[in-house]
Amino acid sequence: MAGRQSVASRYSLSLCLIFLLTAAATAERENNSFSSSLFWSTAKEGEDLLRKTEPNDDTSAASVVRDPDQLDGGFSSLDGMLQWAIGHSDSAKLKETAQDVQRLSPSELKKRQMEIKELMEKLKMPSDSQLMQIALGDLNNSSLSVEDHYRALQELLILAESIDNANDLSKLGGFDVLIREMNHPNTDIRKISAWILGKASQNSPFIQKQVLRLGALSKLMKMVKSSFIEEAVKALYAVSALIRNNVAGQELFYAEAGDLMLQDILSNTSIDIRLRRKAVFLVADLAECQLENVHKVEPPFFSNCLFLKSVVDLTASADLDLQEKALVAIKNLLQFRTIEIQVLKDFCGLDTALERLKQQLQDLSVEEYKRDYATDLEALRKEVELAFHRRLGDKDSNLI
Ligand SMILES: *[C@@H]1O[C@H](CO)[C@@H](O)[C@H](O)[C@H]1NC(C)=O
Ligand SMILES: *[C@@H]1O[C@H](CO)[C@@H](O)[C@H](O)[C@H]1NC(C)=O
Ligand SMILES: *[C@@H]1O[C@H](CO)[C@@H](O)[C@H](O)[C@H]1NC(C)=O
Repeated sequence: MAGRQSVASRYSLSLCLIFLLTAAATAERENNSFSSSLFWSTAKEGEDLLRKTEPNDDTSAASVVRDPDQLDGGFSSLDGMLQWAIGHSDSAKLKETAQDVQRLSPSELKKRQMEIKELMEKLKMPSDSQLMQIALGDLNNSSLSVEDHYRALQELLILAESIDNANDLSKLGGFDVLIREMNHPNTDIRKISAWILGKASQNSPFIQKQVLRLGALSKLMKMVKSSFIEEAVKALYAVSALIRNNVAGQELFYAEAGDLMLQDILSNTSIDIRLRRKAVFLVADLAECQLENVHKVEPPFFSNCLFLKSVVDLTASADLDLQEKALVAIKNLLQFRTIEIQVLKDFCGLDTALERLKQQLQDLSVEEYKRDYATDLEALRKEVELAFHRRLGDKDSNLI
């Protein structure tokens, strides 16, 4: 009797475990991290059989790095798991859960078992933090080939996209390594290093600050002038990511003549279109940030005639994306009281430019597959035109 009971309860237990693991497998799938890490809880944590490492929790991330024991916390076999579960479970609760599982069809059960197997394999995968450590170690190893270094950087590029990983990368000293790699004789190595820095800095004031403090901005700005266009494009991407909504970064950018750099790119039609799009996008972004921070000293280039003209001239480009970005920049610039509206009219020819664009968009809307885009762009153009005429009107009424 006792023996039968025991077998039955073991049966329930294994079903229950399947149930729990399936829930874990689902959580695993929903986590879009490169390799999310699941760890078994310790006995003192009671009924919480599974504990997912909290991505925002700095201490747990750090302990993953430091405590090698914890890394081996996963069970190497289903048997081991069962043994563990038997010793740590509340039998009443297990029965209840097992009843739910018993409603599953054999094929569903089979499917769940497969998912568990997959999960078991994943449990043995190194964490993101470990992967980054390995990649950084490879980058530090000068006996490895350039190809190996490039591969390590490709891994970091994927990993650094998550903000938690970017924070870990900072703790691991990764930014020093990346900045060093930006001086590599190989252009691809320089390009991807800049790209990683940009990705990691994106939308993270903390990372922006770290990277700026390490002096990466001026190096990146030099790379924007590279004759290797891919390097220049990624460097400008990184510059943008570093100073976006970051007043300290922007001050550094202006101190390093970033305004001249932008103007050179905007006014030179032989420069790669991707670089020009990024430059005008950055102008619009800087202008917006300036409008949001009224106490910040306004950089003089916003009201510089030549600079304004180079932005207005972009509306005559054959590239719709560039035109759109230019319109957004002009829309923002029109809100600056320091800008002489007469300069935009007479020197930059904004009214003629807007008129020409209107005509172009009308012609474009005849082509069916471009119609929607042309309509959207026309709405934006109209908005700019209204703002422009409003300012001109203000000016006229002032004169009267
Ligand atoms: C790489 O090497 C530098 C200098 O030799 C060292 O300071 C740094 O800690 C090393 N980083 C890693 C991740 O191994
Ligand atoms: C560097 O890489 C070589 C080749 O893979 C390896 O034998 C060596 O142990 C590595 N050195 C370090 C310090 O990791
Ligand atoms: C414009 O860009 C091209 C290509 O980068 C460069 O060779 C040329 O010197 C630039 N022209 C001016 C006036 O800066």
